Amino acid sequence: MSTSGSSITNHTRPFPPGFLWGTATASYQIEGAATADGRGPSIWDTFSHRPGAVWNGDTGDVACDHYHRMSQDLDLLGELGVGAYRFSVAWPRVQPTGQGPANQRGLDFYRRLVDGLRDRNIEPTLTLYHWDLPQPLEDAGGWCVRDTAERFAEYVDIVARALGDDVERWITLNEPWCSSWLGYGTGRHAPGLHDIGKAAAANHHLLLAHGMAIPILRSAVPSAKVGITLNLGDHRPGSKHELDVAAAQRADGNLNRLFLEPVFRGRYPEDMLAHYATSKPGFSVIQDGDLKIISQPLDFLGVNYYFPSTVVDESRATEARLAGYFVAPNEQFPDLRVRSLETPGRDKTAMDWEIEASGLTALLVRIRDEYTTLPIYVTENGAAFDDYVDPNGRVLDNNRVAYLQEHISAVHDAIDAGVNVQGYFVWSLLDNFEWAFGYSRRFGIVWVDFPTGERLPKESFHWYRDTIHSNSVEYATSVGSG
Ligand code: FCB
Repeated sequence: MSTSGSSITNHTRPFPPGFLWGTATASYQIEGAATADGRGPSIWDTFSHRPGAVWNGDTGDVACDHYHRMSQDLDLLGELGVGAYRFSVAWPRVQPTGQGPANQRGLDFYRRLVDGLRDRNIEPTLTLYHWDLPQPLEDAGGWCVRDTAERFAEYVDIVARALGDDVERWITLNEPWCSSWLGYGTGRHAPGLHDIGKAAAANHHLLLAHGMAIPILRSAVPSAKVGITLNLGDHRPGSKHELDVAAAQRADGNLNRLFLEPVFRGRYPEDMLAHYATSKPGFSVIQDGDLKIISQPLDFLGVNYYFPSTVVDESRATEARLAGYFVAPNEQFPDLRVRSLETPGRDKTAMDWEIEASGLTALLVRIRDEYTTLPIYVTENGAAFDDYVDPNGRVLDNNRVAYLQEHISAVHDAIDAGVNVQGYFVWSLLDNFEWAFGYSRRFGIVWVDFPTGERLPKESFHWYRDTIHSNSVEYATSVGSG
């Protein structure tokens, strides 16, 4: 198409043969059946039932009722044509109190899921921990105590032995930053504590749990491909001012380097250790040999990316306003004297997250340049929008299609730049329980009518199916002549 002064060209960008297309979910967000077949309570059951913790008092008690609708959801995955499905196992289904013998009925559910995936030629990608810690372990100190990492290792052994013959790709933890800093620091997530020293201790014990799980997986499942999924961000300073540059470094230290450095370099970043030196217990929980356990070789890295981030030092919020930014009311890093900025005019999702796909490319390139050349999977990427079922019974989520198209194209840019990206998983297959936002935010490529549990593939589902089928993404560029 050509208009006066500018032209739009469509490019087809093919992905390498064998590129893995997938979609992702997490146990507490979709399963429901909170007390079925011997499942014990998790920290998210407790937290979501606490008045004021989750929007509208929503809980995961029923969620998408995936526990009872699994075969329908498997059929949706088959129709979508994905090569892989990323799901998580609920620890309290497998060990209702977080320790002791396995609950066979809980394992049977995941056995049926894995078999159903294999029947459809879909590779199970199993996350061992997506935030639903058994409540009794929290009562005993949760991730702030070392014992929880030991308990995790036992749980991993049970799952690996039960499902290892049919699961090759294993993710130890999903986003340990959220578990530690949102769970114990800002209190936005379960267990809802506001204690920076505990958040730092949780950060370390989660990574220790990850490290302890690696040899267990390798011995139970010799062919296992083992990785960890981190939520990483591309933090830019709002100006060149040295205070803002330093603020961006602190944000980067907390979100990215506190995880990437121990996993890939066997050490914690000095600036962060110094920053949290007076927080108790903080990183004083580190014991000799821990970093060796944490930094064992992996087979891949999982990266979750949603939005870019621009930050300034909190003392410079007024200057940032004068420079035309909005200063975000919610702080991601309460203890870092950092303020997050919003760029006026930039599109945002229903989460208020700015949309900028180039942040994903920059992040992937940086990981390759600074940390690892291991295969990378984008294990989550997607967007919430204010979807609705129109009078014709369709959900025309063209904004989600545009988001996915731009971000998949950004992955392609990274591959072009030589980054070893081997797969991409859309978050999420289904609309689901979006943590502190309850059911008010829809991320699915399948609409879920929560009162009835009915599923309805959205426009983005059909678009993603075609993308998978063609193993390529269409991308439009506009060249203006002024
Ligand atoms: C990630 C979580 C995932 C989902 C998306 C939107 O941080 O891993 O469960 O909530 O955000």
